[in-house]
Amino acid sequence: MPIFSVKTPQHAYQNVVERGIVRRISEFIPPRAGKVFVVTTEDVWRLHGEKLKGQFAGKSAEVLFFPGGEANKRLSSIEGLAEQMMDRGGDRTSIVIGLGGGITTDVSGFLAAIFMRGIGILQVPTTLLAQVDAGTGGKTGVNLVSGKNLIGSFHQPIAVLTDPDVLSTLPAREYRAGLFEVIKCGIIRDRSLFDLLDHQRDDILALKPGVTDQLIAGAVNIKAEVVTADEREGDLRRILNFGHTIGHAIEAETAYVRLLHGEAVAWGMLAATRLAELTGTLKGVDADRIARVIGSYGPLPAIGDLQPERLLARLSSDKKTLQGKIHFVLPTSIGAVKVMSGIDRALIRQATAEALRKKS
Ligand code: GLY
Repeated sequence: MPIFSVKTPQHAYQNVVERGIVRRISEFIPPRAGKVFVVTTEDVWRLHGEKLKGQFAGKSAEVLFFPGGEANKRLSSIEGLAEQMMDRGGDRTSIVIGLGGGITTDVSGFLAAIFMRGIGILQVPTTLLAQVDAGTGGKTGVNLVSGKNLIGSFHQPIAVLTDPDVLSTLPAREYRAGLFEVIKCGIIRDRSLFDLLDHQRDDILALKPGVTDQLIAGAVNIKAEVVTADEREGDLRRILNFGHTIGHAIEAETAYVRLLHGEAVAWGMLAATRLAELTGTLKGVDADRIARVIGSYGPLPAIGDLQPERLLARLSSDKKTLQGKIHFVLPTSIGAVKVMSGIDRALIRQATAEALRKKS
């Protein structure tokens, strides 16, 4: 199975994609590391905890539970986890293992970023979404009531261990939510990955090993390349936000409880694709194909009740709004995107309204 290298100015590490790697986490713990803190949720620990037991012989290890869910991705959770680390003997040699989905990797990564001004984190993503996106790239953080991921830090991990085997216990809805991030990768940078998603939908939804591994590898490769080129999102990394501008507004507007992140991104991609068509950056035939492929991995939870005006109002507090300008990542073809700002508000409203009314 493949290994993908991420190189940033401060740090180089690998994302190892390999079936069964969860049973070999201990091989990736730096020899000089002190106490190991596994940050996870109770449901993930019930499913995968047994695979970790016995791996930390000779090291002291503690499991810290976090309630999970976007609503708990808050500074108060970080404080609670840090207090537990102190109570259980954490120090500057400790390391954190983030075992879980994207919320867990974001929270555990941020905990590691600020505990005693920064300790190591090994990311072990257990959802498809975290495997192909959140676990790699060092973005860590928590939400504010005003918006998603507004407090955080870049903190690159020691390594990312991606085990496709763990997906077999993932609820179907969560798996499909992760597939929307893979579709995103295809649209922004890899037409052949998009074609695979289009042509092998049934095998992909059935989690057939060959095609699943190919998808994960394709998406992780894109993530590793993009982060290596632009860790701090000054330029190329912005393309990973395709679908996230409106997606984040949808998540905030639905109080983070009605949709999974990947589902909100799927709605955001539908709106951005329509916007690309309306602004003339994308041909109708490509826009229709993108919408069809996204729809084929649905159904998405309906959000026709949301007011486009309220979503637009939320865009201005998103991190991607710079000096009052909303930036959109828009496809120019399948496999290529560009970043645009200064788009007429009426067009954004129209694209959002039309996308929301669509049945996925
Ligand atoms: N999830 C987008 C990024 O890592 O930049």
